[in-house]
Amino acid sequence: MFITLEGPEGSGKTSHLKPLAEWLAGQGYRVHTAREPGGTSISEQIRAVIHDLKNTEMHPRAETLLYQAARAQIVEQVIRPKLAEGFIVLCDRYADSTLAYQGYGHQQDLEQVRALIRYATGGLIPDLTILLDVDVEVGLKRKTKNVSEWNRLDAYTLEFHQRVRTGYLEMAKQEPGRWAVVAASQGWEDVQADLRARILSV
Ligand code: TMP
Repeated sequence: MFITLEGPEGSGKTSHLKPLAEWLAGQGYRVHTAREPGGTSISEQIRAVIHDLKNTEMHPRAETLLYQAARAQIVEQVIRPKLAEGFIVLCDRYADSTLAYQGYGHQQDLEQVRALIRYATGGLIPDLTILLDVDVEVGLKRKTKNVSEWNRLDAYTLEFHQRVRTGYLEMAKQEPGRWAVVAASQGWEDVQADLRARILSV
C-alpha cells in the first residue's frame, strides 16, 4: 500500500511520519518511509538545488521539472521496488505537492502539470493521501520557529501559500475516495489518532 502525507507549510506532517511508521510496524506490517523531494542520492542533490535560498531566479517551469526529475528517480529506485516487496510505503509529500505548489501556487496550467506528473511517476498513484490541513498563517508561523528548515519555497508570498492550501482542499474534494482531510490544528495526539484511524479505514 502506498500512503502519502500532504499539507501546507507547518502542517506538522514530518513529525507524524515516524510515529505512524512505528505504529504500523507494531501491527506487523513492513514499512518504508520516504520524503519528497529526496529519498535517493540523485533526488537529494536535486532537492538541494530547488530549495537553495540563493536560487531566486528559478522559473516556475524549471522548478516544476526539477521536482519531477527527483520524483521519477525515487519512484523507480525506491517506491516501486518496495511496494513490489510488499512494504507499506509512507511518503512525506508526493505528486499532489506539485499540483498544490507549482499548479495552484504558481497558477500554471493544471492539465499540463498533471501530464508531467504522469510521465514522472509512470502513473503511480497513492492508495491513500492524507491532507494535514492548517491555516496558512499559523503554519508559516510554526515553521519560522525552526529557521534551519526554511527553504526557498517558504519565502514565497502569503497569497501563494493560500492558493496552495485552497488547491489541496479542492483536490481532496474532487477525489474523496483517495483523500482524507485531518485538522492539523488539533493537539498532536488527536492528529496522530486521526491519521491512524484513516489508515485503518483503507
Ligand atoms: P518540506 O520537506 O519541508 O515539506 O519541504 C518541501 C518543500 O518543497 C515544501 O515547501 C513544498 C515543496 N514542494 C513543491 O513545491 N513541489 C513538490 O512537488 C514537492 C514534493 C515539494
